Amino acid sequence: MIMDAAKVHIFDTTLRDGEQVPGCQLNTEEKVIVAQALENLGVDIIEAGFPISSPGDFEAVEAVCRAVSEPTICALSRAVKKDIDVAAKALRYAKHGRIHTGIGTSAYHIQHKFNSNPEEIIRRGVEAVKYAKGLTDEVEFYAEDAGRTDNAFLAQVVEAMIDAGADVVNIPDTTGYCLPNEYGEKIAYLKQHVSNIDRAIISTHCHNDLGMATANSIAGVMNGARQIEVTMNGIGERAGNTSLEEVAMILKSHQHLNLYTKIQSIQLAKMSKLISSMMRMPVQPNKAIVGRNAFAHSSGIHQDGMLKHRENYEIIDPKEVGVESSEIILTARSGRAALRHRLECLGHTVEPQRLDNLYEKFLEMADEKKVIEDGDLCHLVAS
Ligand code: KIV
Ligand code: ZN
Repeated sequence: MIMDAAKVHIFDTTLRDGEQVPGCQLNTEEKVIVAQALENLGVDIIEAGFPISSPGDFEAVEAVCRAVSEPTICALSRAVKKDIDVAAKALRYAKHGRIHTGIGTSAYHIQHKFNSNPEEIIRRGVEAVKYAKGLTDEVEFYAEDAGRTDNAFLAQVVEAMIDAGADVVNIPDTTGYCLPNEYGEKIAYLKQHVSNIDRAIISTHCHNDLGMATANSIAGVMNGARQIEVTMNGIGERAGNTSLEEVAMILKSHQHLNLYTKIQSIQLAKMSKLISSMMRMPVQPNKAIVGRNAFAHSSGIHQDGMLKHRENYEIIDPKEVGVESSEIILTARSGRAALRHRLECLGHTVEPQRLDNLYEKFLEMADEKKVIEDGDLCHLVAS
């Protein structure tokens, strides 16, 4: 694998981790539509499903392989030969395929999930990676619950998997437990203590149980990870995964990090709507980047500042993510500047005295109606 030190690979798992959300299941046709949209968006890897989990998922992974050509198509498996065989079969039409296999490495998983021991876990992981390596183009290994795995043991696991042939090593914070500095230090520890680490790409896969998925993923890349696993709108198990749109715009707007992705940001708003409607999963209005209010300003102080210069209150030009313009919402918290601006947009130029009168009436109306629409303003001017 050729490495470009500045490139951060975007691995989208909307169709696998995202689709695990109750009520978000898609049929094969819908998954193909999403995969094609992800290809246009510029993701590098699409995790299309977990083929052993059901015949429907197998069929969908196969269909995605036939329908898209640019991104690598990835299929999930446990560290179990039968899973790997089925994943390889589902990937056989992929232009470029990847098997994502792995096993739990934290003390919780070793004892309470596998009733096993550390040596046996490494043995099973190595066996799975070697087996998968002979069946597809690339192998990614995940150390499930790496977030709560002892760093020294995790380094041993990662070293053994890279020796066995893993091209990518995924360090999931499966339970969303790590603090950003802890997760960043974990990646830095692996960079320092795994002798063969430069032969593989380190991947982040962070869950959002404590609202830190995006911060942890960014801490990961700042310490040497070069792949981020994400979902559109941050959907996924429990509180979800790292949001694609958030990491893409963080890296784009912090150019001093000297990191880039291939994401075509102008498509983000449209992509968010597609996922929300297909997966029947509304986006919270205050969601970063793609929420309804992400570029809406409603307090008088902010509106006045915005009207003087957009960058007083916006760090991203909404056009960059495919939103036509920012919005000035008229509420009882709005000031005269916003009212005058809106009236001017509607073709009404008003003198200061008249503006004062209208503003008083506007406030009375806004206290009652909460949000004032253009029709209300026309009514106000006419009365
Ligand atoms: O959260 C997790 O650990 C996962 C793995 C299967 C990669 O989703
Ligand atoms: Zn996950």
